[in-house]
Amino acid sequence: MSDHAPDRPPPGAAPDWTIPQGWADYTPVEHRTWVTLYERQMRVLPGRACDAFLRGLEQLDLHADGVPDFERLNEKLRALTGWSVVAVPGLVPDQVFFEHLASRRFPAGRFIRRPDQLDYLQEPDVFHDVFGHVPMLTDPTFADYMVAYGEGGLRAQGLGQLHNLARLYWYTVEFGLIDTAQGLRIYGAGIVSSKTESVFSLEDPSPNRLGFDLARVMCTPYRIDDFQQVYFVIPSLERLLEETQSDFAALYDRLKGSPDLPIEAVLPRDKVFTRGTQAYARAAAQPGV
Ligand code: PHE
Ligand code: FE
Repeated sequence: MSDHAPDRPPPGAAPDWTIPQGWADYTPVEHRTWVTLYERQMRVLPGRACDAFLRGLEQLDLHADGVPDFERLNEKLRALTGWSVVAVPGLVPDQVFFEHLASRRFPAGRFIRRPDQLDYLQEPDVFHDVFGHVPMLTDPTFADYMVAYGEGGLRAQGLGQLHNLARLYWYTVEFGLIDTAQGLRIYGAGIVSSKTESVFSLEDPSPNRLGFDLARVMCTPYRIDDFQQVYFVIPSLERLLEETQSDFAALYDRLKGSPDLPIEAVLPRDKVFTRGTQAYARAAAQPGV
């Protein structure tokens, strides 16, 4: 999702903004980058990523051979949940993004970061989009949640409430944690595609880790430029889907009158998994650092 995408598809893109992946055109260096990133993540994710993610990775055979060929990937993914991956030139307008999701198509960047950008990159590339997002789309419950999100996005846009709904995406699809019998696990794509945040999100004493609450999440701003100051924990994927089934129109109306919360707030009614020190955020905010 983005406010920064141009209004019309660039030359060579279809009206729905899709482009051919051009898998044969990836260079050996680009395939190497995928392998390097894949291997790094597989050293940190077992025991940290949730079972659904790790299972999806297996089922799709997103192994360390290089950038996946979407055509081959889609055969497996379609058979599992009816989803497919389509290549897009970069960020696409919100409307286009939601329409793809509502039709079970996940728009993914085709480009991959340069070898000197392994740790950080502003725009989502094929590693973030495919390694990060697609394994969860093999889970039937999560797959349905993403469809509902696309439909909800189109509605929220009509109601002028995208800023609230975007936070739901951020704190679930991108940076969500899930409570399991073995402890907290990661399901958010922004975390699982980052080596440092995979560890930080679960183990660092700095961020708050709070129970997921729909209205609460919609009032919580987020940061796009550094590790999160708060992570929200869902009890299960089924509960996430259930809690987002209701029509959000009434909730949006209520939210119109209520101010945003400070990003690091812990409220008396929050279910607190970890009360963070916020030491990381404070140090990162020092001028000149
Ligand atoms: N129930 C939401 C609505 O009425 C749709 C939605 C579902 C949005 C799941 C996001 C996630 O708008
Ligand atoms: Fe993403």
